[in-house]
Formats: sequence, C-alpha cells, structure tokens
Amino acid sequence: MTEDAHLVDNVESSQSREIFWDKDVYNLELERVFGRSWLFLGHESLLPKPGDFITTYMAEDKVILSHQQDGSFRAFINSCTHRGNQICHADSGNAKAFVCNYHGWVYGQDGRLVDVPLETRCYHGQLDKAKLGAKHVRVETYKGFIFGCGDADAPSLEEYLGEFRWYLDTIWEGAGGGLELLGPPMKSILACNWKVPTENFVGDGYHVGWTHAGALGQIGGELAGLAGNRADMPFEELGFQFTTRHGHGFGVINNAAAAIHVKRDGWAKYLADTRAEVGRKFGPEREELYVGHWNCSIFPSCSFLYGTNTFKVWHPRGPHEIEVWTYTMVPRDADAATKSMIQREATRSFGTAGTLESDDGENMSSATHVNRGNITRDGRMDSSMGVGFEGPHPVYPGIVGSSFIGETSHRGFYRFWKEMLDAPDWAAVKANDDNWDSVFTNRDYWADKIEAAE
Ligand code: FES
Ligand code: FE
Repeated sequence: MTEDAHLVDNVESSQSREIFWDKDVYNLELERVFGRSWLFLGHESLLPKPGDFITTYMAEDKVILSHQQDGSFRAFINSCTHRGNQICHADSGNAKAFVCNYHGWVYGQDGRLVDVPLETRCYHGQLDKAKLGAKHVRVETYKGFIFGCGDADAPSLEEYLGEFRWYLDTIWEGAGGGLELLGPPMKSILACNWKVPTENFVGDGYHVGWTHAGALGQIGGELAGLAGNRADMPFEELGFQFTTRHGHGFGVINNAAAAIHVKRDGWAKYLADTRAEVGRKFGPEREELYVGHWNCSIFPSCSFLYGTNTFKVWHPRGPHEIEVWTYTMVPRDADAATKSMIQREATRSFGTAGTLESDDGENMSSATHVNRGNITRDGRMDSSMGVGFEGPHPVYPGIVGSSFIGETSHRGFYRFWKEMLDAPDWAAVKANDDNWDSVFTNRDYWADKIEAAE
C-alpha cells in the first residue's frame, strides 16, 4: 500500500477518502486487484456460434473474447504485437480472422499470428510468427458466465467464486434452464470511482428507501413501504446481507418478487412456475432467495440486480470515471414475450436512462468528486452499520448480516480489497483463507438468535 494513502488496519469499517481519489491507489488497484482477479468477459449466449466474438475490457485492457471451432472460448489482448494498434474495432461479430488496420497483420480466431504482408521479402525470413501471437489471458466459464484472469497463479474461477457459488447456483442454474444475457450492452460514462457502484451493489440496502423514495412510490406494492426508510418497516424480516471469501456479497429483500413486480405478470408467473423445482433441487432457504430481490457484486467490478434483472460491469477509466455496461439478465427457458417484458422493465428501471439508475448516478459521482478538496480528502468514511449483528450461520455460507439494511457485505468487500492490495501474490492471499472472516467477531450471533427463537 502506498504510504501517502494512509489507510489503516480497520479498513472494513472505515476507509480513507483517498481510496476514491488517489492515483497511486488506482494504479496499485490496476496491478493487484484487476490484474489478479477473475473479471467478467461475457456470457455464452452473447457469442453462441464458433467464430462469434465480442470485444470488451479487463479494467483498462482491451480484450477480444472469441468462440473457438472446438466450442471453447479464448481471450486475448486486443493490441497488435507489431506496433501496438488495436486489432479489432467492432463490438461483436463473426470472423474467420482479425486483421490489424495499420499494416495488415492477420490473427486467427485463437489469437495466433497467421499472416504478415510481404513477410518473406520485408523480414528476410527472420520473423518468428509463433512468438508474435496476441497475448492470451486465462478464460474459465461458470454456468455460462465467462471470466478472464491475467494472473497465472490465481486460483481457478470455481475456487475464486468459492462458497459464493452456493448462492449463485440458485439463480445462475435456477430450475434448470439457467440464465442468459441480452446484449449488446447499453454503455454510458459515469464520473465516479469504480468502488462506489461496486459497494452500492454489494450491500447498500440503506440507500434504497431514501435515494429511490420517489421511484418506489411510483412502483407501489409492498416495497413502497421502504420509501423514506419508515420507522415501522419490518427491519429484521426484510432480508439478509451475505459476504463470502474473496469479497463477493449481496443483499436480499425477502419475497420481493410479488412486491416489486406488481406490474410484471410474466416475471412473477415465471418465478411461481419454477420455484418448487428450485426448492426441490436446492432446499427451502434457497427457494426463498430465488423469489427475493438481490443486489449483488462479484469482486471486483461485476454486479447485478436479480429481480430487476440488470447485469452491470464497471470498467474503470482512471480513479474518477467508469464506463458502465448494462445487459439484461433473463431465464434462458422463458418464452420470448417474458424475455422481452423483462428487458423492457430492466431498461426502464436500471437501464442507462432508467428512473432508478439516474437516482444512483448523481450520488456516485458526488461521493467521488467531493474528495478533490485537500481537507475533505484527508478524512474518512464510515461503514460500521450492523457491526456485531452478523456472523457465521448454520445454513448460509460465509458471514450473514441480520438485515437487508446493513454494511456487512461492505466490510467483506473492503477487507478483501485491502488484502489484495497488500499481498505480493496469490500465495499470500491464500495464506489468509482460514481467517478471512476474523473481522466479524460476533461468532455466536446466529446461534444465540436461533436459540432464543426456539
Ligand atoms: Fe498492427 Fe502494424 S500495428 S500491423
Ligand atoms: Fe440504488
């Protein structure tokens, strides 16, 4: 960690404002967070056929993700090994090869350099094409979601997701059909640090009733009760927060499907038709999660809302700006009318110009840029809500916070973020595997609560 960033040990409950502003912190994040984590690249549904490709980013690195003839996926840096030009400028397509615009070097679907204009005459037989292929990154897939990683020593994607898969399976596999993403993504620029939206999605249930009060009133249904964070709200029964190893986390509003989807008969019907199957496969706790509303982040920069069904990637553009990519997340086996209804509603709520999305954007930008002031920047921010009202649970993996409104998963996210910045390599991160949750000190919270209820 850089000295002048003056982060202190209790980063989970309180963070230096430098983390949203400082360029040295950002550069270290590019290297140690984004350079070593599994980053979302795409979903199989976005490039279903051999030869299909999409171009995307791993943080600030441009990447081509390409569907190979053998059905696998490969990803390579979208920069020519000759003079560095961007190889492919299209967002997506189907291609036999990629030809660099500058001098015409040709890369195969797998990123190998296959042809060079005037090769024999200009290079006099001295060019070793085998050594000049585009730089590859690791690619692994989980339930159709494709991730890339730039670190050969990182654990497998399954290990990286770890216990969080217990939760993800509930919806990424669901009743059996799983999910798909509808693209191309909406793209927008937001003037904020990348961690602001990630922490918002990982577990900021607190802002929902205040920031979105106006929109919630419009939506109606039971969730209108959240507007203004009313004192008579059933706080304890509202839901939970979860955080697991490697900084992943989410908050769930219980039984939100009926409430939030009062105007969305197709989605509510889909859940009603499939929830029993999910209960049979995954048990009653996950059946309840299945019909809830999730705000979720997969460390470091991929988030989704399940229930309002937007899937987001926060591509960082320096410490003070991000490029937001927004897909719609739909059940693969839903009928076309249901998918289209979900996409319409997702666009209307959390699309680029969505009613709820614009509520959030202003706050995210403000929370970043206010720190440009020298005195302001020197201060700290608080995320201590619910400390001690959380702990290991007999059923749910990871650490479970007592309500949807809390900052349990903020603490999990920032603990791991700091761990990645401090660790020289993945071996040092792995050395913490057995005590990653030591910051959550009330180990008996749930046992006591369950015993008291019996
Ligand atoms: Fe790509 Fe020269 S930079 S062919
Ligand atoms: Fe919000």
